[in-house]
Amino acid sequence: MTASINEGKLSAQEQLYTKALEYERFEGHKPLALIHSFGCQQNVSDGEKLKGMLSAIGFAFTDKTEEAELIIYNTCAVRENAEDRVFGNLGQLKKLKEKKPELIIGICGCMAQQKHVAEKIKESYRYVDLVFGTFAYGDFYEMLSEIVFDHKRVFNQSDRYGDINEDLVQLRDDKIKAFVPIMYGCNNFCTYCIVPYVRGRERSRKPERVLEEVRGLVTQGYKEIMLLGQNVNSYSYGFTELLRAVNEIEGDFRVHFMSSHPKDASRELIDTILECDKICTHLHLPVQAGSDRILKAMNRRYTVDKYMEIIDYARSKAPDFSFTTDIIVGFPGESYEEFCMTKDVIKKVKYDNIYSFVYSRRSGTPAAKLPDDISDKQKGLWLRELILEQREVTSEWLGRFVGRTLRVLPTGEGRKGEGWLTGKSDEDIIVEFQGDKSLVGNFVSVRAVKAMNWALEGIREEDIPQG
Ligand code: SAH
Ligand code: SF4
Ligand code: F3S
Repeated sequence: MTASINEGKLSAQEQLYTKALEYERFEGHKPLALIHSFGCQQNVSDGEKLKGMLSAIGFAFTDKTEEAELIIYNTCAVRENAEDRVFGNLGQLKKLKEKKPELIIGICGCMAQQKHVAEKIKESYRYVDLVFGTFAYGDFYEMLSEIVFDHKRVFNQSDRYGDINEDLVQLRDDKIKAFVPIMYGCNNFCTYCIVPYVRGRERSRKPERVLEEVRGLVTQGYKEIMLLGQNVNSYSYGFTELLRAVNEIEGDFRVHFMSSHPKDASRELIDTILECDKICTHLHLPVQAGSDRILKAMNRRYTVDKYMEIIDYARSKAPDFSFTTDIIVGFPGESYEEFCMTKDVIKKVKYDNIYSFVYSRRSGTPAAKLPDDISDKQKGLWLRELILEQREVTSEWLGRFVGRTLRVLPTGEGRKGEGWLTGKSDEDIIVEFQGDKSLVGNFVSVRAVKAMNWALEGIREEDIPQG
């Protein structure tokens, strides 16, 4: 049985490859695909797998819709505006498809896993050929061949999420930082969140496979490895053990990971980070809200005190330990007073950055049924208040680094313009400094000279006048 499925897969792949070769012979270049990932790092990582599969059947890539033979939007369902953006972009493809009927248009990812979204596209976006969810990657070649050779529309919202397909090779755009998923899915069911419904239950990759991948990336010259999971602390083969093993790998690289759920973040995790020199002294620890009542309603399973214990422990061991967080403003029933408690947490923790969002109702989640009296406009004002608070906190937190030398990995041109480079320090702080583009992708020692409300400004050690 298994053998025949595999044979089926190979032949779909071979047929598609042959077709791409014919195209190339005729057109003088490979067929082009546009893969646009709209979501989180996990979503980007899935998009890289898709690119890997397309590359294996003879595709090259473009970011221009009008050049593409195949367009796939890899989507996110976490907030309504993420979904709106996809439908907006999709609407714009209608004309293109009219002009070029052989164009294949697909939607995949978290939005596409939802049956009501698939139905909507089936009925109202008839020019979309392919809609497949987060568990269907293993069937990609078959789906594509049904479209190309049988001229069918394909909808695949399968929820068989048992296996991790280790054979899919990622084609990464970035040559400096690499995403490495260590687990998929989520078991936490925070009451506002759609992720467990579109990503299924937790499954962890075997440590050997993760380590093998990291070793390969380091050999290729990657300088930053980002280990990914919705809650890395529940990695089933032991997360701190994995961190220690990654840290043992030889080479000039550093390691980040996200996200950590505060209910599982332990002192052992903090100790491990501090004992492993390649692991950045930074933790992304989404607090979501600053009042115990709201945290309970969110089913987060920690209190503000428990959260602060972890922060205080880390800072008692390493005063520079940096934290970032996610915050939801205006969960159903949240009062202004409760919102202000979130601002208090920000002031107490002194995050170096926050990712804050207005609550978005996700149908099918428990919170979607709760009464919600505060308007989105009002919540938007609260969000602004929160962001202003954070800017002050950031300037103050960054101030402590002024005069010190940080190790920075420049990744591109700076926001400050021509001649400036931007990168992050090992503490996850954005640092801008003047330097030549050839420094991009190499660790650089930078002396911080000024704190802004979003980043540090610095001077490369080599450029500081001596004496
Ligand atoms: N697994 C990660 C979060 C993934 S989703 C974690 O638990 O930390 C990323 C962020 O989106 C969440 O941390 C939350 O702040 C935000 N988010 C999730 N659902 C949301 C919703 N319905 N409305 C607004 N923001 C939401
Ligand atoms: Fe969503 Fe909560 Fe799971 Fe994060 S831990 S993905 S917020 S359900
Ligand atoms: Fe990520 Fe969005 Fe899915 S945040 S897991 S792409 S719903």
